Amino acid sequence: MNKNLRKAVIAGNWKMNKTPSEAKELLTQIAPLVKDAQCEVVACVPYVDLAVAVEAVKGTNIKIGAENAHWEEKGAFTGEISTGMLKEVGVEYVVLGHSERRQYFGETDETVNKRTKAVLKAGLKPIVCVGELLWERECNITEEVVARQIKLDLFDVSAEDVKNVVIAYEPVWAIGTGKVATADQAEEVCALIRATLAKLYSKEIADAITIQYGGSMNDANAAELLAKENVDGGLIGGASLVAEKFAAIAAAANA
Ligand code: PGA
Repeated sequence: MNKNLRKAVIAGNWKMNKTPSEAKELLTQIAPLVKDAQCEVVACVPYVDLAVAVEAVKGTNIKIGAENAHWEEKGAFTGEISTGMLKEVGVEYVVLGHSERRQYFGETDETVNKRTKAVLKAGLKPIVCVGELLWERECNITEEVVARQIKLDLFDVSAEDVKNVVIAYEPVWAIGTGKVATADQAEEVCALIRATLAKLYSKEIADAITIQYGGSMNDANAAELLAKENVDGGLIGGASLVAEKFAAIAAAANA
């Protein structure tokens, strides 16, 4: 099965939650619970938590990610954070194009594409989020919307670089709503994403790219979602803030 070719990546997206001391506490709780995980375990945390988080996971199998990054290396961009800053702190992953950034902070496919290229250039791994709105699903254009996002967000990303990209399929209607996509719905769109990647690159490359599902994934539904051929991991919001739930999801990815 091609699924075996890919590394399962279970990543927490903490969003705007946890102060540095709370981050340390949560990671200290998570670490022993995921120490035997076969998958890659990542915690994507607020910028101010990064240094503490990197320190807290030293000697463990947990990797730390940021929740965004600017595309320029430095300059007059008040409030922004560069990939160089993230790298020096010890970050390995960066969430990009999350629907909350698209919805509330004017993120577009063009800026996601710039960020993706900058993150790859810095040797970091982008987790590029795509997904349709409820209205788009109801209008039956999920395929077009997601394929378009993939094409635009990865525009000009080389075949060599795309191997370091993780895609997160997050139907916007399932994020933070408790409305999880069914395993079949998740599989259908993740398979479509892989077919789009195969057209853009090659089947071989597409088969090696990790595609996560995200949107109300939790300890109760993770196993069924992660058992699907094209669902290689999860990007987890709410449930990543509870050590036992997050660890249970990582354990489900081992199976
Ligand atoms: P949720 O968030 O698990 O709380 O739905 C997922 C995400 O936004 O990445």
